[in-house]
Amino acid sequence: MIKPKSVEEVIETARIEEVVQDFVNLKRRGVNMIGLCPFHAEKTPSFTVSPSKGFYKCFGCGKGGDAVNFIMELEQMDFPEAIRYLAKKYGIKLEETEVSQEVREEQQYQESLFLVNEYARQYYQDQLFNTDVGKSVGLSYFRERGFREEVIRKFGLGFAPDKKDAFTLNAVNKGYNPELLKKLGLTSQYGRDFFRNRVMFAIHNLSGKVIGFGGRILVKDIKAPKYINTPETDVYNKSKVLYGAFFAKRAIRKEDECIMVEGYTDVLSLHQAGIENVVASSGTSLTVEQIRLVKRYTENIKILYDGDLAGIKAALRGLGMVLEEGLNVKIVLLPEGEDPDSYLQKVGTEAFREYITQEAKDFIMFQAGLLQDEAAGDPIKKAKLIKEIVESIARIPDPLKRSLYVRECARIMEADEQLLVNEANKVVAQKFRKGQQEEQRAQLKAEAPQPDEIFTTSTPRAPEKQAATGDEFQEKDIVRILVAGGGEVFDKEENITVAQYILSNIEDVMDNFDHELYGQVVRECHNRLLSGEPVNTDYFLNHIDEDIRQLAINLLSTPYEYSENWEKRWDIFLTTQKMPDENFTRDSTQALKRFKLRKLNKMIRQNAEKIKALFEQKSDDYMLYLKLDQKLKALRNELAEELGTVVL
Ligand code: CTP
Ligand code: MN
Repeated sequence: MIKPKSVEEVIETARIEEVVQDFVNLKRRGVNMIGLCPFHAEKTPSFTVSPSKGFYKCFGCGKGGDAVNFIMELEQMDFPEAIRYLAKKYGIKLEETEVSQEVREEQQYQESLFLVNEYARQYYQDQLFNTDVGKSVGLSYFRERGFREEVIRKFGLGFAPDKKDAFTLNAVNKGYNPELLKKLGLTSQYGRDFFRNRVMFAIHNLSGKVIGFGGRILVKDIKAPKYINTPETDVYNKSKVLYGAFFAKRAIRKEDECIMVEGYTDVLSLHQAGIENVVASSGTSLTVEQIRLVKRYTENIKILYDGDLAGIKAALRGLGMVLEEGLNVKIVLLPEGEDPDSYLQKVGTEAFREYITQEAKDFIMFQAGLLQDEAAGDPIKKAKLIKEIVESIARIPDPLKRSLYVRECARIMEADEQLLVNEANKVVAQKFRKGQQEEQRAQLKAEAPQPDEIFTTSTPRAPEKQAATGDEFQEKDIVRILVAGGGEVFDKEENITVAQYILSNIEDVMDNFDHELYGQVVRECHNRLLSGEPVNTDYFLNHIDEDIRQLAINLLSTPYEYSENWEKRWDIFLTTQKMPDENFTRDSTQALKRFKLRKLNKMIRQNAEKIKALFEQKSDDYMLYLKLDQKLKALRNELAEELGTVVL
């Protein structure tokens, strides 16, 4: 462990602008510096660094923090890793606390495995570039396939000669421990080289350390496998690795999308063409660990499949857990007989980019389409397929997304929507009973639909009822406070009145009042404040508009009352509350929160309509509104929480 003293030294030494400048081109702008944000794609700079304050902030994507945080975010390191990175940059020697013998040995063991692998990579690379056979067989093979030297070097490609133990002897001669060579799968039990007469692909972990290799055969040989890979070792666990992730992570973050391909050469080709947000599952079906790895960088995943239908159908069935992890999955089907590498080399970068943009299909829709074709004219088969697709949909954690999918799938599969709804509800309800989705339950609590009501065939339920009464009660509450206490002092230190506080907080929704008269009053008050005139009880009582005078009188003469509905909904115990006019500050804060909550709920409903409409138009823009949906709900939950704790 690094000693706190050393950590402090690093933090004190690191200058934010120097740290950032290694990655971002910064220009001075007054006391600050600005540049293009490394965390999201942008054309005009909104990424700001404040050398004096020691932090960065992007006004585009909202990311911000200090030097350590910048490195952690950008390089996806944990805190100690970032401290080590900065210590290296500034030549600071870190003092470490004593670790137990056991831990130290484990660390040393791991480190030595990395060292040996790194040596092997150098060896294979040296063979490729500096030996006659390497050049004539290996390098010419890569060249023929169109790989340029810079990519060959960057990805650590190499060549393993056709000798039984050339590498092993070389490594042992250099002093590397034969036991470690075996542990790493580089040498067999009998002292033979594991990789022989193959071109080599180094496999890196997320920090760029070599953890294993893949070797491709160069001749057509039906008996030998095309690729052989490092077996499971203490540093290489196939199911947790995504090939190319180290080189892709920054681009994935920036593009907010991860392109998933199958093979090593697909990654190389795309990367070389400037499409850097690409990783390979290396021929196996995706694992949860791999998906979570992607999720650290983006929620959007685009899977490129070779145009082989049977293979795809099998692969799709394994994709449920990608949905479960809440990722947005798109599928691109490449033309028959092509893989990403071959197709890219065939049509060129521009056409390739266009193809994978144009042809990307939403996963569920893609699956529904395929199944529909399969079951054409066979009702029994169809029923089975519907079940299958509903299983997929039920795995999506977001209820709004789910109901959109149900609707769309019913349309594609020409099935009764209610049937799908029922099926899906069954599956979801089962999940609830199993208690598998604690998180989701917490999320649902605020909105309150129960599992059996999550899917609706028409517009959301409760809103219709609410629409009849509208937000009038909350609006009236706002007006009541303006009339009764608008002129009171809200905050002595800030020297603002209740009216100023309320109105400055509702400026953005003032035009959306459900109740005509209340809206009019509020807007008028706002104008008065803008022109420096007071808003108080007298003004309302002497208003030229008869309606407003009457309203003021009513509001002032009826005792303060909550609607019955309100009382039930929020569990407000009136008896334990002080009369509001005893405390205008608290009263207006609370009223405002309730008002905002109401407006937020309305925005959420409107947004849901919008999402539904866009989705039905098959516009991908609905994704944007889904994001907004999440934001609104987060705000709403926050408010509800505050109200809950303050009011009760
Ligand atoms: N693979 C493997 N073992 C095999 C075959 C394939 O590990 N016997 C993995 C490799 O990671 C390979 C990926 O599956 O990159 C995809 O296999 P394939 O499509 O057959 O190969 P390509 O990557 O297209 O390789 P190439 O273009 O050189 O034929
Ligand atoms: Mn290929």
